[in-house]
Amino acid sequence: VILEGLVTTLDDDDSPRLAPMGAAVNADLSRLILRPFQTSRTYDNLGRSGQGVFHISDDVELLARAAIHRLEAFPRSVPASAVHGVILLGACRWYAFQVRQQDDREPRARFECHVVDRGRQRDFIGFNRAKHAVVEAAILATRVELSDPRQLLEEFARLSVIVDKTAGDQERRAFALLEDFVRAADRGDTR
Ligand SMILES: Cc1cc2nc3c(=O)[nH]c(=O)nc-3n(C[C@H](O)[C@H](O)[C@H](O)COP(=O)(O)O)c2cc1C
Repeated sequence: VILEGLVTTLDDDDSPRLAPMGAAVNADLSRLILRPFQTSRTYDNLGRSGQGVFHISDDVELLARAAIHRLEAFPRSVPASAVHGVILLGACRWYAFQVRQQDDREPRARFECHVVDRGRQRDFIGFNRAKHAVVEAAILATRVELSDPRQLLEEFARLSVIVDKTAGDQERRAFALLEDFVRAADRGDTR
């Protein structure tokens, strides 16, 4: 299966970077396959350092903000010990990994990674339809330059039904932030 998580890597000046990213995982999460676009900074960082930390979290507001580069500040984190990287303190679980193989033949590169250390910090809240809707909305928002914003907004309208029914405050804020971002693109307002 592919788990949607949060990957931290280090930029070349050692400042931490956070990007939502899907990872194909095996059953015990000892192996991860990451597929960053070669245009992403996470791709550059994984290629340069060959390491990072994959996190499982239910914080969809953080996921949404990171997806559209609207983090107010880098979230609370601590240095990892097994890799040169950082662990997000708010995440449910984390997996420090080393890249074993890199394949650049496609625009979405393929990094095969081995998990070298892991930790559990808190429970995952559980299935919530609004959280899943925000994950979908965040993926749509990251495609804003490749797609027609009008079509994206139609998908947002469908997802908003689920958000209205099942969201808490965090999911509502995250969804509104993403919708505003796509609306701004629709107006041609690129900030
Ligand atoms: C749930 C989710 C999954 C994502 N998975 C990927 C992925 O597998 N590969 C990728 O290149 N981008 C993926 N993205 C988009 C990146 O997070 C986004 O392009 C980000 O801006 C990259 O940031 P960076 O350039 O700072 O690395 C995903 C976004 C979301 C919301």
